[in-house]
Amino acid sequence: MPFTANKNFKASPRLLKAAKGMYYTTIDDRQVLDGCAGLWCVNAGHGRDEITQALIEQLNVLDYAPGFQMGHPVAFEAARAVAEFMPDTINKIFFTNSGSEAVDTALKIALAYHRANGEPTRSRLIGRERGYHGVGFGGISVGGISSNRKTFSNTLLPQVDHLPHTHDLEHNAYSKGQPAWGVHLADELENIIALHDASTIAAVIVEPIAGSTGVLIPPRGYLERLREITQRHGILLIFDEVITGFGRLGTATASEYFGITPDILTLAKGLSNAAVPVGAVAVHDHIYNTIVNNAAGGIELFHGYTYSGHPLSAAAVKATLAMYKNEHIFENAKALSGVFEQAAHGLKGFPHVVDIRNLGLVAGIELKSRAGAPGARAAEVFQKCYDQGVLLRYTGDIIAISPPLIINQEQIRHIFNVLGNVLKQVD
Ligand SMILES: Cc1ncc(COP(=O)(O)O)c(C=O)c1O
Repeated sequence: MPFTANKNFKASPRLLKAAKGMYYTTIDDRQVLDGCAGLWCVNAGHGRDEITQALIEQLNVLDYAPGFQMGHPVAFEAARAVAEFMPDTINKIFFTNSGSEAVDTALKIALAYHRANGEPTRSRLIGRERGYHGVGFGGISVGGISSNRKTFSNTLLPQVDHLPHTHDLEHNAYSKGQPAWGVHLADELENIIALHDASTIAAVIVEPIAGSTGVLIPPRGYLERLREITQRHGILLIFDEVITGFGRLGTATASEYFGITPDILTLAKGLSNAAVPVGAVAVHDHIYNTIVNNAAGGIELFHGYTYSGHPLSAAAVKATLAMYKNEHIFENAKALSGVFEQAAHGLKGFPHVVDIRNLGLVAGIELKSRAGAPGARAAEVFQKCYDQGVLLRYTGDIIAISPPLIINQEQIRHIFNVLGNVLKQVD
């Protein structure tokens, strides 16, 4: 099983058999409130009829069309719908099947761009400590979660460097929204550039909010500084918006929320409300034009998947994005972010809690680790919350909360009440 303690799971399985709206139904018929939108992806809630209908209709008309040297209209309509949610200058979309594929595709597009632009020496990629960019070799190479890397450490991409992460309990504990401390950590990029020379660096990739490592909110001014430095040195900036894309912060993207336009965005998860596996890379028009116009002829980018722009995923994307717009789902997230912040920070002073951080509808509650058993306390909290009808996520000893964006105030309070009670019940 993926990212699962297989032996533990076999001994005590957690099986979900159905889902509707904000709730899962377990195999033993319990209702569980979804406090993490599945895996940060079911933004419009579960079992949406609009998507089901679109998929049935699409299957009846066109089940599959090859994407190499062929196309079909729904993929182009889906691409146009995605572009509408992107910053103004970002209108070119490449479909993948997952966030991991989106990341590896984005890295390859960055390399292809510099080569097409007459700067083939720009091949170094810069990620960040504690970053998560999926599980492809590109993604784990620029990623910074050591447990995901160490087994494969001899086989990672060469020419990769990492920025420091921005987490510091001494300075930033209990920040509401963006922490005031830490903008200087972006200046480390200048040191990396001084070491390797800008002419060897292709791209910097970061999650605007580091999600999987345990919800790290960017310090004020930090992303702006990264944008300024990359622009000045001709380095592409990639925002991995697999989690932050499609409403998590109450806006279409984190780029919109922070008012910073990267050169490339990676998308997945909320892109189809997770009903069908799909990812995408959204690129600046200039990048597309450089690659396509400077090619000698024939295929311009030797890259793609059998299922890129698959009719079912394209239909799901169209239906999902229409729903986000028609139902004002991002606006609901925005309107509730204050209540969510208040409820999250209401856990300050509860047993084991050492930090609470939040932005939009995402929060991280960091617990003190048990001596010699990192992760054990959060694992127990996760299991007890699940037993008491609330599904959360945990990484190490950090609990992550990121509910579907259709949540209401009462459900928000319920999640944090259950979590608070559980914190009092564990050692
Ligand atoms: C920021 C980020 N990038 C990439 C990925 C990988 O996406 P997938 O699991 O669809 O391959 C994830 C998944 O959690 C993610 O959070």
